Amino acid sequence: MKVAVIRKAHFNAAHRLHNPAWDDDRNREVFGLCNNPNGHGHNYELEVKVTGEIDPDTGMVVDLGWLAGLIRREVEQRFDHKHLNLDTEEFRNLNPTAENIAVVIWRILRVHLPEHLGLHVRLYETPRNFVECPA
Ligand code: NI
Repeated sequence: MKVAVIRKAHFNAAHRLHNPAWDDDRNREVFGLCNNPNGHGHNYELEVKVTGEIDPDTGMVVDLGWLAGLIRREVEQRFDHKHLNLDTEEFRNLNPTAENIAVVIWRILRVHLPEHLGLHVRLYETPRNFVECPA
């Protein structure tokens, strides 16, 4: 039977939702307050779910200490207390919506996980707004 192992993490970051191909009116119309020129912040809550069979030798799907360290190094240290548009390579030319942030995090983590394990990312931008990938 497959089992899911989930690690929660957290980071604070600022962003601005903006499409440079549009004029200011269109940007304000689509993104509203999130288009504020100097950005705004969120307390992002992240859930990383790893799925797979239990390894009979360890009794684990994945070592949670290892997973916690991976998320700390690759996600928290990269994005915590950053302005995503200005301070990170990942979002220099990619609109930092919750959807895009979740996909970027999934791609970053995926390459570090053994291929036989599944990976899902859930990202809360607010307590009531969150995204999951893959859907
Ligand atoms: Ni926002």
